[in-house]
Amino acid sequence: MTIKFGIIGLGNRGFKYATSIIKSHKECTIEAVCDYKKNNFDKFPGISHTTNYHDIVNNPEIDAVFIATPDNTHREIILAAAQKKKHILCEKPLEITNDSLDDLCSKLKDYNNTVEIGYVLRYARSFNKVKEFLSQGIIGDVLMINIIDHIPYGGYAFFHDWHRTRKQATSILLQKATHSLDLANWYADSYPISVFAFGNLSTMGKAGALKKFGHEVPDTLHCSTCSISKECEESIANLKFEKNICWSDSWPDSCVFNNEIDIDDHQTVGVEYKNGVQLSYQLCLFDAYYKREFTIFGSKGELRFDDSSNEIRIYDRVRRDEFIYKNKHLELKMEAGDEEQLEDFIQSIKSGKQPLSNLTTSTIVAKLALAAQKSIDTHSIIKL
Ligand SMILES: NC(=O)c1ccc[n+]([C@@H]2O[C@H](COP(=O)([O-])OP(=O)(O)OC[C@H]3O[C@@H](n4cnc5c(N)ncnc54)[C@H](O)[C@@H]3O)[C@@H](O)[C@H]2O)c1
Repeated sequence: MTIKFGIIGLGNRGFKYATSIIKSHKECTIEAVCDYKKNNFDKFPGISHTTNYHDIVNNPEIDAVFIATPDNTHREIILAAAQKKKHILCEKPLEITNDSLDDLCSKLKDYNNTVEIGYVLRYARSFNKVKEFLSQGIIGDVLMINIIDHIPYGGYAFFHDWHRTRKQATSILLQKATHSLDLANWYADSYPISVFAFGNLSTMGKAGALKKFGHEVPDTLHCSTCSISKECEESIANLKFEKNICWSDSWPDSCVFNNEIDIDDHQTVGVEYKNGVQLSYQLCLFDAYYKREFTIFGSKGELRFDDSSNEIRIYDRVRRDEFIYKNKHLELKMEAGDEEQLEDFIQSIKSGKQPLSNLTTSTIVAKLALAAQKSIDTHSIIKL
């Protein structure tokens, strides 16, 4: 069986996933690509290009679409693809408002083709192994989960481009935190019922400008024309030089200290699940180093995991044993889980099974992130 793909959105994520993962899979071909700004058309020689995604969804030769456009466009494009009965692999988050999520869920309620959402960490081997251990009852009943996302490239990834305004992204909890929150939902084996959260913007945006310069900077300021681009810790040139952070040579370079920025740069979230599990989650977008750090407390012991050591440590509190599982698998192409995610999509198309990251799981986590943002804005506990 060959699955013929149309790719919609050829920015940072879209063109890389298409060229590294989809194109190299033996059961997939890329029939046509779309980007309304013609980005990266040159990376797909000999493949038909369009700036209008309707050309992709209306193409009867195409079986499946991969959607990697900004988050606030997902609903519209998913629904257009569903009308033409395509199988849909869409990047996370599913959407950025409760209305869009509800609309998608009601319109796709009886949709029979595959819809998979890109919560890729569910497919990454170590995160998957944690789930396997928990399901075996290795620490007994899961009771509490503690997660910290330490992100040293937060300024680079989210504060130079469209992610930085609520108008386009709603909350960074949707773009970044939902990867870990989705894992928490999966590990808790339940769904969130109440959430409280705190958040602040204090390192980037206007607050960061006042601390760094003693005055605001205009929204027209860009790294490429800035006089301190060589020294500034958040400039594109300096991040490349000092921290080896460079995902593309044409990365957006609006100043991270601009006034228009209205998303938070650090958050703390507390969640109560239907089955009583409690979650405590923190996101820091200006950390000095990278690590996703998980501690899971169970009735019989504790499980610790982080994706920089790739070690899962299990402590048995009764026998006072410690067991270490080390993942030595090398992720060869891109992010951990990218290839396994595509494999699940293909198997779901073939068998009609529900993908591991599906409409329901991705709606639950998007609603959790939106509720957390509402809690930050209203200083109250939000019931889901
Ligand atoms: N799973 C992951 O690990 C991961 C990583 C990065 C990004 N993402 C997600 O991937 C998606 C894309 O993010 P990105 O960082 O690549 O953004 P980006 O801005 O780099 O790329 C988006 C591309 O979509 C194009 N586009 C926008 N609207 C369009 C439309 N209506 N029709 C056709 N093309 C359109 C733009 O021209 C741009 O090239 C987002 O949903 C993001 O959250 C996921």
